[in-house]
Amino acid sequence: KTRTFVMVKPDGVQRGLVGDIVKRFEQRGFRLVEAKIMRVDRALAERHYSQHQGKPFFEELVDYITSDSVFAVILEGVNAVAIARSMIGATNPAAALSGTIRGDYATSVEYNIIHGSDSAESVEREIALFFGASDGV
Ligand code: GTP
Ligand code: MG
Repeated sequence: KTRTFVMVKPDGVQRGLVGDIVKRFEQRGFRLVEAKIMRVDRALAERHYSQHQGKPFFEELVDYITSDSVFAVILEGVNAVAIARSMIGATNPAAALSGTIRGDYATSVEYNIIHGSDSAESVEREIALFFGASDGV
């Protein structure tokens, strides 16, 4: 088993989708290792999304992710990164299939409800950023 990091973005928390999203991951066979509601400050947002620094949507993305509380989660399961990404669906909800989280709840690429780590390296980096030295059991 491996771990991945997902984060319900502010619009997902505001719309009350945390419970449904957690349920989907649990039903698929993931175990919650750690989870918390938290505010992301600009420094954390800029580090988390550093790969997008300089892109035209970067400022908007940082404004969005810092606008209200997020729900940050470490999940553990078989093939965690790939399975969580497939459950989350395409970045642009217009391309996300029904049955995926974005395909069921999101309509715009700016407000696409949820983040999921895209590689084993991203998992390590993002868990360190959001949870520090993780002591989940
Ligand atoms: P995350 O899980 O949030 O990292 O999304 P992703 O891995 O599916 O996509 P990516 O890392 O490429 O982009 C990160 C985030 O930037 C996306 O979730 C979008 O919210 C935002 N984003 C990406 N492309 C665009 C774009 O063309 N326009 C706008 N406005 N936002 C974008
Ligand atoms: Mg990404």
